[in-house]
Amino acid sequence: MTMTVNGEAAEIPRDPRVSLLDFLREHLHLSGTKKGCDQGACGACTVLVDGERVLSCLSLAVQFEGRSVTTIEGLGQPGSLHPLQQAFVEHDGFQCGYCTPGQICSAVGMAAEIARGVPSHVTVDLGDDGIDLSHDELRERMSGNLCRCGAYNGIVAAIAETFAEEPLAEAAE
Ligand code: FES
Ligand code: FES
Repeated sequence: MTMTVNGEAAEIPRDPRVSLLDFLREHLHLSGTKKGCDQGACGACTVLVDGERVLSCLSLAVQFEGRSVTTIEGLGQPGSLHPLQQAFVEHDGFQCGYCTPGQICSAVGMAAEIARGVPSHVTVDLGDDGIDLSHDELRERMSGNLCRCGAYNGIVAAIAETFAEEPLAEAAE
């Protein structure tokens, strides 16, 4: 049983109790994905599975046979940062940085959702021009990712700037 992690095949553990989060961190040593609450409340463990955001602490590794998982390490690296990573740096979107990988993975997944026209609780208009990414829309869609340091203003500014400059579908890649 294998899945693809950041473009490389990875053997899934036979123990069905291993969470996707522990598989990434403890088995593959991809420590970018963080364990915050380990119970689905903080978003620190968010990764992308086939482009959709998933809480890896609430997922079992065996669920993802044949699927493609992307962690923060797969989005960008020092020297070739993802545009969102660069924007987080420029807008002081992190303080301790613990929530940052989950915030960035979540925002990339969010961009794909908006590009597909998926509405949120606060979406006012699903018109031909697409969903307007207002700060209210962005805050609502990112509300599953908590930041204990309160770097929210920088996070919102970084995400808003990135998506204003890049078509949402491209930003999600
Ligand atoms: S560690 Fe998964 S939501 Fe908090
Ligand atoms: S930057 Fe510290 S928890 Fe978000």
